[in-house]
Amino acid sequence: MILVTGGAGFIGANFVLDWIATEGTPVVNLDKLTYAGNPDNLASLRGDARHIFVKGDINDRALVASLLQQHQPSAIVHLAAESHVDRSIHAPGEFVQTNVVGTFSLLEEARAYWGALTEPAKSQFRFLHVSTDEVYGSLGPADPAFSELTAYAPNSPYAASKAASDHLVRAYHHTYGLPTITTNCSNNYGPFQFPEKLIPLMIRNALEQKPLPVYGDGQQIRDWLHVTDHCAGIRTALHKGRIGETYNIGGNSEKTNLDVVHTLCAILDDALPSHAPHAKLIAYVKDRPGHDRRYAINATKMKNELAWSPAEPFESGLRKTVAWYLSHQEWVNNVTSGAYRNWVETNYANRGTA
Ligand code: NAD
Ligand code: TYD
Repeated sequence: MILVTGGAGFIGANFVLDWIATEGTPVVNLDKLTYAGNPDNLASLRGDARHIFVKGDINDRALVASLLQQHQPSAIVHLAAESHVDRSIHAPGEFVQTNVVGTFSLLEEARAYWGALTEPAKSQFRFLHVSTDEVYGSLGPADPAFSELTAYAPNSPYAASKAASDHLVRAYHHTYGLPTITTNCSNNYGPFQFPEKLIPLMIRNALEQKPLPVYGDGQQIRDWLHVTDHCAGIRTALHKGRIGETYNIGGNSEKTNLDVVHTLCAILDDALPSHAPHAKLIAYVKDRPGHDRRYAINATKMKNELAWSPAEPFESGLRKTVAWYLSHQEWVNNVTSGAYRNWVETNYANRGTA
């Protein structure tokens, strides 16, 4: 039995599905169901006794304590977070509340629970904290990729809140001996990603023949990783990672945003030739404030120490992702009703052109 937080979100849902398919042991899934959390992501587990869904906040310490007592998990895999940089620019408060205070609350309850365990459960317990490469800040074109030794330099409220949570996790290991492992991953893509993020937003807009809003000059670089590779990386770190260590997880797949959008357009041209060329929809809009120029992950430690490497090449992963969104338009329609429209208005209405 493991406790997963944020398991109704993009990576969390993929992780829960992957865990039950590969490990087969039960998961307690604690998720607040914010705009980003969606129980439909786990519809295929309905009726499966190995998935216990609990709607709740990681800041609800009494709830977390009772779940730990009741289910006696051998690990906590902590994914719950506010995760979108643009939202953190418009409204940073919730990022501090969930990412910083929420991680603190979870660590406190984990410490109390773990402290009372007896052997061998105590030595076997792990607190795995899922974080991001954005804590390292921005790279120049010729800089080496981020390693686990790169100094933290977060630039957005999102990145700063994740950096703060990483520091708390580190301190709980160093001070109290809590058996923690932290993973810092690059940009994920794949099924169930909320269409506020680059790839699903572009697919959705293209399907509706709406402009494809590229921030600034579109030359910002991200290192893309298919979400199934990330899930395998988390499982690997959980099973084989050394306590107190951090591991960088990345896709060895650096692309400019413009390259990603052009590749998406080409895939959509093949799938929907009557709408080709989709690239005519590309629209340059005002840049994101403080926009990080380049992220790149050096995942050598994962490879050499834990024998993990990404398996899905970007082009085939992107093709599969487009196919998933094309065959799940009802899912997209469901998650983009109501509050989503307000967000699109907030983020894009006053951008104008670049
Ligand atoms: P997401 O926004 O899709 O999902 C977050 C989930 O957390 C949602 O289901 C939401 O309901 C839940 N949640 C939010 N606040 C909560 C709270 N207070 N209590 C309980 N549940 C709460 O995010 P994601 O993209 O799946 O990211 C998951 C984790 O991975 C995050 O910690 C994020 O920082 C990290 N990460 C994401 C990426 C990426 O590319 N998406 C890359 C690296 C790391
Ligand atoms: P995003 O998916 O928000 O992830 P992150 O900011 O965490 O890397 O954005 C990925 C890149 O795409 C980032 O450089 C911002 C850019 N972007 C756009 O150009 N247009 C958009 O509409 C969005 C959402 C992102």
